[in-house]
Amino acid sequence: MEIYNNILNFDELFSTNEYAYNLVKQGNIAEFTTIYAHNQTKGKGQQGNMWVSEKGKNITFSIILHPIQIIPSKQFILSQCVSLGIQKVLRNYCEHVTIKWPNDIYVNKKKIAGILIENILSGNKISSSIIGIGLNINQEKFDISIPNPTSLKICTGKFFDTQQILRECLLSIFEIYTSMPQNNTEIHDNYMKVLYKKGIKSKFQDNTGIFKGTIISVDETGKISIVDEQNNVRSYYFKEIEFK
Ligand code: BTN
Repeated sequence: MEIYNNILNFDELFSTNEYAYNLVKQGNIAEFTTIYAHNQTKGKGQQGNMWVSEKGKNITFSIILHPIQIIPSKQFILSQCVSLGIQKVLRNYCEHVTIKWPNDIYVNKKKIAGILIENILSGNKISSSIIGIGLNINQEKFDISIPNPTSLKICTGKFFDTQQILRECLLSIFEIYTSMPQNNTEIHDNYMKVLYKKGIKSKFQDNTGIFKGTIISVDETGKISIVDEQNNVRSYYFKEIEFK
């Protein structure tokens, strides 16, 4: 499979996303080139956080895509493809694998994988997209500063071959990505089916405070809608709301 022959392996990088970004800026990088690092010294997480991962125990990688068929306002479809790709692999090994909006991968109430997508726009097109994925595999102890972490080892009691899981993730993401745009409705339906806490009353916090509500939908732009206890529908983009 072509995608497996296009993996650039590094013992150590600051960040695979940063490396991929610099490659893209130099131009002419084949779609589905993957940057893999056994260790990241400055792994980037969402919202300016660090992504910390014990050397060699987990997988940290970035896939370069050129999704010129997706207009920037519909870029949430990429998040859905990638999170579903990872969810599909992990559900073969553990139960209760869900996607926490917008694209964290959870097992029960704990986070097993995080995704950081960085797009490079050119006019009204996404010329390149750097899909950064950190998936916890064999790590058993995490720093107390990391909220809610888990790993495949913690969930199953077994150790896994990290390179095998990497290949499974690449194939799974590739299959869903290349099924777009014909399959966009199915991708969205599958995303909604495995959405964490969908239809279950939960606590949230927005800029007005904490409230109880139930997730009812996520639209194609990634906006989530929650119905509160007064039956009002409240809608939010990423970073405007958090689970409590
Ligand atoms: C999150 O905060 O949930 C997103 C974490 C994304 C981490 C991955 S690890 C590989 C890639 N390179 C980075 O620097 N970050 C992403």
